[in-house]
Amino acid sequence: MAGPEGQSDHVVFEQVGLAFGRRPVFSGLNLAFPRQKITVVMGESGAGKSTLLRMIGGLQRPDRGEVRVAGESLADLDETALGRVRRRLGMLFQNGALLDSMTVFENIALPLREHTEQSEEEIRRMVHQRLRDVGLGDVDDLLPGELSGGMLRRAAFARSIVMAPEILLCDEPFSGLDPPNVSRIEALIVHLNRNLGLTVIVSSHHMASSLRMADQLCLMRAGAAISGTPAGLASSQDSTIANFMGEDGVSYLAGLQDQPSAGDPS
Ligand SMILES: Nc1ncnc2c1ncn2[C@@H]1O[C@H](COP(=O)(O)OP(=O)(O)OP(=O)(O)O)[C@@H](O)[C@H]1O
Ligand SMILES: [Mg+2]
Repeated sequence: MAGPEGQSDHVVFEQVGLAFGRRPVFSGLNLAFPRQKITVVMGESGAGKSTLLRMIGGLQRPDRGEVRVAGESLADLDETALGRVRRRLGMLFQNGALLDSMTVFENIALPLREHTEQSEEEIRRMVHQRLRDVGLGDVDDLLPGELSGGMLRRAAFARSIVMAPEILLCDEPFSGLDPPNVSRIEALIVHLNRNLGLTVIVSSHHMASSLRMADQLCLMRAGAAISGTPAGLASSQDSTIANFMGEDGVSYLAGLQDQPSAGDPS
């Protein structure tokens, strides 16, 4: 299905430049996120991963260049049209907390109440389904302040997917989680992608889970990005790629190349 650009790419950055004051974050960033694939964005702290995700959500405008989401150039959209695009996105932010004064149930139900006409019964079913998906049991009546850090992150994840988005943006979904919950969230992301066809764009420092999940890896550095399949990057001769991934990453990827079915979800 190698059609023209726009058909296979769900999100496209073209010649994007952005600076905060005199500090450039992006200079001529070109990047495409393929439809129904998982792209993991990696890069050192401060490389611009969170800013990249915020730009896709229309929360940060570039100084120059173009960001297109599902074929629409965000710069051309007024607030109403931008709201329409945003409703197709699920966003899990790095420090995205829930609203403190509302229970966990009400936090997750909020987007459904605001944007749909669903009945109380349907809302209850959907919220509980999403809580089960992230491995949270009986937390309906708790306030966010009564959850642990890892539980809070999973509750925020449940809220980001409650509207059945077509593109899921996850900023560091694994930070602060213990290994069982890293596995749980990783499996959920893969499930949402493979079974429900979501396009997933996730930023992460977590090398092992990133390499397991990624159809496309994107390394951000010096205002630009290098992207490719994990196996493609592993065979790159570029020493900065090898340095970034470290020995563990490169040998893990080399192992994947030897067993091509390892990345096959089915
Ligand atoms: N609203 C802002 N105002 C000023 N500078 C900002 C703003 N947002 C981000 N920056 C700067 O942009 C750069 C990229 O920040 P960003 O948060 O995108 O990095 P990151 O790759 O997500 O880092 P981390 O891995 O630590 O989360 C940093 O130098 C940061 O200081
Ligand atoms: Mg960040």
